[in-house]
Amino acid sequence: MSTSIIVNDLCKTYGSRTILQHLSFTVPTGGSLAIIGPSGSGKSTLLNIIGLLDSPTGGTITLDGQRLPDINSGKATMLRRTTINYLFQSYALINDLSALGNVMLGMKFMPGNKQVKQRKAKAMLTRLGLGNVIDDKVATLSGGEQQRVALARCILKPGDVLLADEPTGALDHTLAQHVFDEMLALQHEYGKTLIVVTHDTGIARQCDRVLELGRAA
Ligand SMILES: Nc1ncnc2c1ncn2[C@@H]1O[C@H](COP(=O)(O)OP(=O)(O)O)[C@@H](O)[C@H]1O
Ligand SMILES: [Mg+2]
Repeated sequence: MSTSIIVNDLCKTYGSRTILQHLSFTVPTGGSLAIIGPSGSGKSTLLNIIGLLDSPTGGTITLDGQRLPDINSGKATMLRRTTINYLFQSYALINDLSALGNVMLGMKFMPGNKQVKQRKAKAMLTRLGLGNVIDDKVATLSGGEQQRVALARCILKPGDVLLADEPTGALDHTLAQHVFDEMLALQHEYGKTLIVVTHDTGIARQCDRVLELGRAA
């Protein structure tokens, strides 16, 4: 089962500065939305609010018919574990762990047998072209390899919502396109609902819809 995202009349201010103003949109179950806009226009702020890392000043967000709870609540912690997956530009990997160790960490709260999870993790890493670095510490991997480890972890972690903040921002154009193609293929295969922030208009056009944020007032 996948999850729809409904954003209704969302506002965010920091002090006297308005970052997001009366924003409304829907991403249907299994759909994809690209968010573009200049630096400082509130793209990360919006993604952080949907990802329960920041609170809105006004408006509501509904995931699969359920209104998002307060970010400090136990319910929010549960949603971050079970429903929402965040893919960061900076990978957010544990450098001292292997590629496999990082992917296994994403499956920590998943029920099931460790060997079965390990098989799944290895198969996903192999599919993403990382078969020969499964046991290498991620600190020794290239940027493109680390981004694919982060992608493998995000796809296998339980949760139907995939939020990606400039996931290919640190990669050259060809590699960015390649990683994004893999991300879209996996999103479809696993039935995830995707919101991706990107600078790359070519990548944005591959999503079902594009939302452009303006420069903050
Ligand atoms: N915690 C914060 N406190 C105050 N201002 C913030 C905070 N987080 C972001 N901002 C400001 O909000 C604006 C939007 O930031 P951000 O969402 O990171 O933009 P983008 O991701 O589009 O580049 C920026 O001007 C930024 O300085
Ligand atoms: Mg940003």
